[in-house]
Amino acid sequence: MKFILYLACLLSMPVFPQSVKTFLIFGGKSGWIGQKLMTIVKEKGYNAISAESRLENRESVEAEIKRINPDYIVNTAGVTGVPNVDWCEGHKQETIRANIIGALTIADIGFKHNIPVINVGTGCIYEYDEKHPLHSGIGFKESEEPNFDGSFYSFTKIMLDKLLLTYPNVLNLRLRMPISDDLHPRNFITKISKYNKVVNIPNSMSILSDLLPLIPEMAERNLRGNYNFVNPGVISHNEILELYKRYINPEFVYRNFSVEEQNQILKAKRSNNELDATKLLVEFPHIPHIKTSIIHVFERMKTSLNA
Ligand SMILES: NC(=O)c1ccc[n+]([C@@H]2O[C@H](COP(=O)([O-])OP(=O)(O)OC[C@H]3O[C@@H](n4cnc5c(N)ncnc54)[C@H](OP(=O)(O)O)[C@@H]3O)[C@@H](O)[C@H]2O)c1
Repeated sequence: MKFILYLACLLSMPVFPQSVKTFLIFGGKSGWIGQKLMTIVKEKGYNAISAESRLENRESVEAEIKRINPDYIVNTAGVTGVPNVDWCEGHKQETIRANIIGALTIADIGFKHNIPVINVGTGCIYEYDEKHPLHSGIGFKESEEPNFDGSFYSFTKIMLDKLLLTYPNVLNLRLRMPISDDLHPRNFITKISKYNKVVNIPNSMSILSDLLPLIPEMAERNLRGNYNFVNPGVISHNEILELYKRYINPEFVYRNFSVEEQNQILKAKRSNNELDATKLLVEFPHIPHIKTSIIHVFERMKTSLNA
């Protein structure tokens, strides 16, 4: 045993019983979603390792995957732009390098070594249209062709979404407007509470405390292909901000503007849509409706702020 521990130290690898499965998580070291997933995976009793290699370096990604030999790979790495996706408009090659080439590198190496890959993608590749009008309750299904490429970020994510479908080892989770229980700057609630003016459109959104814990189970169930990774139902910006006023800051004031006015202050357009969550609900029927779940988010947020 001492010898094994010594060897593991030498190789900088943690020692786990062979029966414990390993998730290698790209973006697990510094990413908002990746770090949350690292915690969840560990809490569920798995071995979670955050990847060290940069996506643009295929040799180092492959060497790391071969060295760790994980049961599952999760890709939460990608560029979303700082302060927001407008950044991608002026950094197209960097965006392609991470969001298409990098993500495909992971999928491809996983395929080559027969390892399942879970990609954290986005559902911001659709916008309301005649067949899926606002307030209709008709959401876009996974089988439907993306129709929103109004930002370069979304364009790269459409390309990736399509190309990943050719990999039989890949599960692609389409996250939207993620909401966490804290006031992290990436939380959709925090974002819209900081804007000078905000549009008011119902959207599908992802409550991370409901959805991220499903990832290890989705891996174990060998699910593949695209999944709309959102809570059922939609909620509007104003509905969220009214809850923000009720639970967090009664003095808070917000102002609305139209999508046309919003487009004038942004470099790229933003997607607004409803995604059909039926495919996900078949696997996990207990996922709460967005309007129920968000109340619990605000209750937890208020409790922790008052603690
Ligand atoms: N947050 C959202 O609103 C949202 C919504 C829908 C979908 N998503 C998707 O979910 C994924 C994770 O989002 P997030 O909010 O967690 O983003 P994030 O906080 O910006 O994290 C991104 C992670 O990717 C890593 N990364 C970027 N380029 C890399 C490269 N070339 N090689 C290796 N690692 C690289 C970053 O590491 P460094 O810091 O070291 O570069 C960071 O750890 C993204 O693909 C995003 O498109 C996010």
